[in-house]
Amino acid sequence: MDVLERIDELRLEAERAVAAAADTAGLEELRVRFLGRKAELPNLLRGVAQLEPAQRGAVGKAANQARQGVEALIEAKVSALATSELDARLLADRVDVTLPGSPTRPVGRLHLLTATRREIEDVFLGLGFSVVEGPEVETVVNNFDKLNHDPAHPARSLSDTFYVTRHPGPEGTGPRVVLRTHTSPMQVRSMELQPPPIALIVPGRVYRRDSDATHTPQFHQVEGLWIDEDVTLADLKGVLLAFARAIFGPERDVRLRPHFFPFTEPSVEVDVSCFQCGGTGALPRSGARCNLCKGTGWLEILGSGMVDPNVLAGIEANDYDPEHWQGFAFGLGIERIAMLKHGFPDLRQLYDNDQRFLGQFG
Ligand code: DAH
Repeated sequence: MDVLERIDELRLEAERAVAAAADTAGLEELRVRFLGRKAELPNLLRGVAQLEPAQRGAVGKAANQARQGVEALIEAKVSALATSELDARLLADRVDVTLPGSPTRPVGRLHLLTATRREIEDVFLGLGFSVVEGPEVETVVNNFDKLNHDPAHPARSLSDTFYVTRHPGPEGTGPRVVLRTHTSPMQVRSMELQPPPIALIVPGRVYRRDSDATHTPQFHQVEGLWIDEDVTLADLKGVLLAFARAIFGPERDVRLRPHFFPFTEPSVEVDVSCFQCGGTGALPRSGARCNLCKGTGWLEILGSGMVDPNVLAGIEANDYDPEHWQGFAFGLGIERIAMLKHGFPDLRQLYDNDQRFLGQFG
């Protein structure tokens, strides 16, 4: 057979084979079969020198074109197949990240402090209070002065309170700044932002220079404030009774004990009847002294009182005339509520991140 015909035949054969190839591995075999070192077409090319001089040009050209043609065909098919093979592999390898792991892992839970804060928020939202938050770095004016603290009040001392560098302006000229020692300064900020009536709670972090089993330098409080035209101490007791029952159980009672806070007059400390002994002070079965309330039948849960007229009179930007507006405020510690409710002895356990402890709640 004529060499040129053979070249045509090889080219046709290769074209048909490439068209039929189903995958890149098959194409690799075809590359070896038609273009490899032992394949016929390259051999023909290598043999051109031995041909009659008259034939060399035509045969060389035809064989070269055939080789390049087959090469290009294989290349084109390889890249087409590689793309669809990759697509198929990606599809097959797809991971459904929404499936449970193997072995399955628990989804986790809210930290006891977060859960307790939300529980408290829910109770007050249900009573018509809104929830606001405020800055943890606070001016001495809002943290103490406008809350009617005496200039000599011990909480102002460097040994009780974290003072922050004065700012703004050069040292000594700006307002004095502290890490807030309670959430009460948000009473001032809220009233300066919003005219009466006002009913809100303020959850948030507070800071004091204290550290032992029942005190950490950073802890959490919820402040409450309700000012209107006719809010009385009876409303205070009613609201706090609803709160105590929602958190500690429907049988609970509350009592108010006289106390002193600079920003309330009168001021009270609020106790809830002990939920362990039912307020009797003695454990039901053994009759032994209740260890939770120490036999008193009462647990202290928060500080409160009627907002001092001096605080209302000091509010700038809005008119909280104490002759017209009145109401109550309260402040509670979230850690304390959690400790009482769940009966653990050391507040620092809340911050140790030990799953054996935290995993018991929620
Ligand atoms: N700010 C007080 C504290 O941190 C708690 C408190 C007591 C807040 C009485 C009040 C209040 O709003 O009326 O110890």
